Amino acid sequence: MDFRKTLLWYNAGLTLMVLYGHKVTSTDDRFMKLAAESTEVLSNKLVTGGGVWAVDIFPFLRYLPSWFPGAGFKRSAVEWKKLIEAFVNEPYEDCKQKIKTGIATPSFTSLAFGNNENMTEQEDFDLRWTTNSMYTGSIDTTGSAIANFVLAMVRHPEVLAKAQVEVDSVVGRSRLPDFCDRPLMPYMEAVLSECLRYATPAPLNLPHRLMEDDEYNGYFLPKGSWVVGNIWAISRDETAYPDPNSFKPERFLEPIDGETKKRLDPRNYVFGAGRRRCPGVHLVEAGLWLVIARIVATLDIRKKVVNGVEVEPEVSYDNAFLRIPSAFQFEIKPRPHVNWDLL
Ligand code: HEM
Repeated sequence: MDFRKTLLWYNAGLTLMVLYGHKVTSTDDRFMKLAAESTEVLSNKLVTGGGVWAVDIFPFLRYLPSWFPGAGFKRSAVEWKKLIEAFVNEPYEDCKQKIKTGIATPSFTSLAFGNNENMTEQEDFDLRWTTNSMYTGSIDTTGSAIANFVLAMVRHPEVLAKAQVEVDSVVGRSRLPDFCDRPLMPYMEAVLSECLRYATPAPLNLPHRLMEDDEYNGYFLPKGSWVVGNIWAISRDETAYPDPNSFKPERFLEPIDGETKKRLDPRNYVFGAGRRRCPGVHLVEAGLWLVIARIVATLDIRKKVVNGVEVEPEVSYDNAFLRIPSAFQFEIKPRPHVNWDLL
């Protein structure tokens, strides 16, 4: 099966279950496909596809009819609006319908909806879009972290081998790692920390707008300015992380005082800062640990071998706002001694 599809199944599946109580049972799931197509539009076409839209610079272009040469943005906008509306409305309406007929699986929407049959139009709008913003916020970011983990394991077999020794010694081979094992696996914890630091799924954060005039290092910043927190620069700070472009989980195992440990912990910045800090942080932090611990326990990940020679995976990223690695070559196989019947 295509690795990217499997990854999407995990990301979208978890989020659809938590937010709408919807269980994804195949890669053909309608809501999952809508998410994949919409996030592609949002992150690759609207934001970075071709950079800037001419209509943003010359607003008069919006008066051109859509058949006019050069007014392709109008046709795309109509198409994308329809797609995004389906992405926002369909899982929400499906969940609402199930709540009304009493067959809804508990979820964020069903809990927020409660017994409120008489939700106002505004409340309905708020819930619909809040849920969708979590759905949008979770898919590519989580996908980026996992894909970067797999890429790191392909490039650093010694890290995977060390993590497998730890998981085997703590968990054994007849069950999957679970949260009760987490405190006993410091190396796995360091691998997750290094993955978050190294991947920095959202390197430029989301822009924040100043609510009042401010000053920073002598610069006057007027109310309304956009401020972009450079998460990437923090993650690559050589004074905090020597040799920052290398993937080295061991850097998180060095004996340091509690204050420094807190300062270096990437969980304190890769999810943003302040009131708008990522609300999915607890879900995703726990989920990522479980996913990588279970991958380490059950799968071998290796460089692809062509004609007896290992192929070094090419490292590149499609998009500057979300660091999802472009397709890379590797091999992934069940570990030979895992007793799948017991798992
Ligand atoms: C590795 C995974 C993730 C990373 C790295 C990540 C990172 C971020 C960052 C950097 C922001 C901007 C914070 C700021 O403005 O200071 C953000 C916002 C947000 N994230 Fe996440 N996120 C992840 C997963 C998730 C998940 C799983 C969910 C939902 C279940 C989620 C929902 C959101 C939402 C709704 C916002 C907007 C918050 C607001 O503007 O008030 N994210 N995330």
